[in-house]
Amino acid sequence: MKKAGEKNGDHYVIRGGIPLVGEVDIGGAKNAALAIVAASIMTDETVTIENMPDVRDTNVMLEAMQGIGVTIKRLDRHTVKINGSMVKNVIVDTINIRKIRASYYLLGALLGKYKNAEVPLPGGCDIGSRPIDQHAKGFRALGAEVTIEGGIVNVKASSQHLHGAHIYMDVVSVGATINVMMAASLAEGKTIIENAAKEPHVVDVANFLNSMGANIKGAGTDVIRISGVEKLHACTYSVIPDQIEAGTFMFAAAVTKGDVLIKNVIPKHLESITAKLIEIGCEVQEFDDAVRVVASKRLKSTQIKTLPYPGYPTDMQPQAGVALALSGGVSTITESIFENRFRYVDELVRMGAQIRVEGNTAIIEGVEGFKGAHISAPDLRAGAALVIAGLAAEGITVIDNIYFIQRGYEDFDAKLRHLGAQIDEAEDERDIKKFKFKVVS
Ligand code: EPZ
Repeated sequence: MKKAGEKNGDHYVIRGGIPLVGEVDIGGAKNAALAIVAASIMTDETVTIENMPDVRDTNVMLEAMQGIGVTIKRLDRHTVKINGSMVKNVIVDTINIRKIRASYYLLGALLGKYKNAEVPLPGGCDIGSRPIDQHAKGFRALGAEVTIEGGIVNVKASSQHLHGAHIYMDVVSVGATINVMMAASLAEGKTIIENAAKEPHVVDVANFLNSMGANIKGAGTDVIRISGVEKLHACTYSVIPDQIEAGTFMFAAAVTKGDVLIKNVIPKHLESITAKLIEIGCEVQEFDDAVRVVASKRLKSTQIKTLPYPGYPTDMQPQAGVALALSGGVSTITESIFENRFRYVDELVRMGAQIRVEGNTAIIEGVEGFKGAHISAPDLRAGAALVIAGLAAEGITVIDNIYFIQRGYEDFDAKLRHLGAQIDEAEDERDIKKFKFKVVS
């Protein structure tokens, strides 16, 4: 079986114009799983993680951890057993780890447990500068020295132990909140994190740490209180459903005028996405662990501003951009989290969209439809949004660099085919030609 993200093809090729209809199952949250995998080495006992997404980012993270002596046993595609007791050193320096941003979670986990860690500066999508000053501020407040030399971040406790602290985050940061929460779990005394991030995956990591014996209260609010404990123990934990994968399929249903039941979700986590879809004319039905999106008419224009949770998520901004580019009227999107998250716009314009970007705002004049084109994915979420654009476009769309998309979406093309989409991976021009001449069923 193809390992997730294993390069079979470099391109997606799509024949658009087909409404998506049917049911799709959502996997575990990539951005929760990455932090949970890192935190799992904070105990010498074995941790079992269920509902793990089988995507490139989490697989690269697991490989990097094996590289420092962590034992990883995959029980099935979505369940792994992790034991960090044999960690040989705290220097995480594998070529791969530079490719994902979440490498910085190993800093918080290793500092918490070993009081010392060296990890390459994070890589990740080119959606903005992505500093780690708030991570460093938290670690220093807990009593660690933080230095960055030659692209390597080195954190080291100044004494035997880390100590509790009262930390006020200057910026609402998911990564910094999670990292400080991890390190503080094994520090001596109490830590308060103010202006904390409230994303569902922050809560998921707090719940995971608590199931290992940590004492964390208030996750999901902007004040998190942590009482350090001596050590953490084994647990079995299931990762929450991926809010952004779910939102991506919700917008795919809306843009193709389909009728899709998106299963294994937590509707509460999708509230801001649901609200926007209703605003632009979709019907959204909520069930206990599913949402159904139905769109029959042309979508309406609206205004969107990305904000930290529970605001509209930045990771759903490109997907909304595609929908608004096809809506009737003029819309605006203001991206307040990252400074370079409109890289999909140029590709959309090649398909016929009318969008101009002024600073951190995109002004979008809706058009009747897109024409298929040969475009390329600039980053993970922009890539997923361009797939949605291809599904709506007339004719054939070829998308290059689907590596980015496979970082965060498991079996994306297979799940879309299951909903009636005509989409395939293609290795080369020959494959693309073959797809183009496939009889249109
Ligand atoms: C996480 O990135 C996610 N990645 C991102 O998802 C997501 O877009 C982002 O949170 C916001 O929700 C992972 O979880 C692996 P931040 P993170 O720290 O933690 C600034 C995806 O598509 N900042 O909340 O890096 C930063 O520049 C990815 O799955 C500082 O200034 O995001 C940004 O403007 C893309 N100093 C803002 O805060 C810091 O020390 C939010 O960043 C840290 C962040």
